Amino acid sequence: MSPRRGASPRTTGRPATVTDLRDKAARGERLVVVTAYDATFARLLDEAGVDALLVGDSVGNVVAGYNTTLPVTLDHMIYHAAAVRRGAPNAFVIVDMPFLTYQINEEQSLLNCGRVIQETGAQAVKVEGGSASIARTVRAVVDLGIPVMGHLGFTPQSEHALGGARVQGREATAAAQMLDDARRLEDAGAFSIVLELVPANVAESITAGISIPTIGIGAGPHCSGQVLVMHDLLGLTDTFSPKFLKRYATLADDVRGAVRAFGDDVRAGTYPDADHSF
Ligand code: KIV
Repeated sequence: MSPRRGASPRTTGRPATVTDLRDKAARGERLVVVTAYDATFARLLDEAGVDALLVGDSVGNVVAGYNTTLPVTLDHMIYHAAAVRRGAPNAFVIVDMPFLTYQINEEQSLLNCGRVIQETGAQAVKVEGGSASIARTVRAVVDLGIPVMGHLGFTPQSEHALGGARVQGREATAAAQMLDDARRLEDAGAFSIVLELVPANVAESITAGISIPTIGIGAGPHCSGQVLVMHDLLGLTDTFSPKFLKRYATLADDVRGAVRAFGDDVRAGTYPDADHSF
């Protein structure tokens, strides 16, 4: 009998930990992070050797078809993160805390981050921003025993305030503020910080100015690691072409081609043939 769809083929081996990431970064190895939203792709990405899977709230864009990440809810994230965990039982899984789930007060933040860890089996959460109030939340969540990743630069949950997906930290004062925010997140106990849409030299100074790893997306080559949205990396989102994006496959073409071929076979009556019939 063939394996059931959705079942993970890999259940042996030790689950990855935050210490593995820290150790790799300390050895100067660049960290590879890719977003994941479902069990099938989580398994493939894990088998391809990524260091961590990020269940990004970009799920709202690339899976649900929203223009922003703002409509994504905690229940959506839990659903997708649990699927990712089932697909990649040994991967290090980080889950984005969606808009309004960690900004209101400490009690709600702790309960929401706790739910994510308890209900999905993920190891860490990610929050956006570097204000004093976010840093207090990071401290409280870390004290609860949950590793937290920060996110600075372009923070999509604030995209209306930032005027869209624009490079952040071009001016000296903004760059200095970003470094202060990064230090504040590090002091609060964050284990790593995503830097999104940041000039390469600013990301370089931040990476040099803190001792936790930075993970860049549109932040140049000097970060401790890089993350890409899986659909972008694989060329599924073929109408999205920001300067920083390098596509490593053209799956949108493959999907259209495969489905056209299936359609042609069905219309011609050549599928299913004897080999594919009982
Ligand atoms: O939601 C997401 O996918 C992210 C990455 C772009 C870092 O936050």
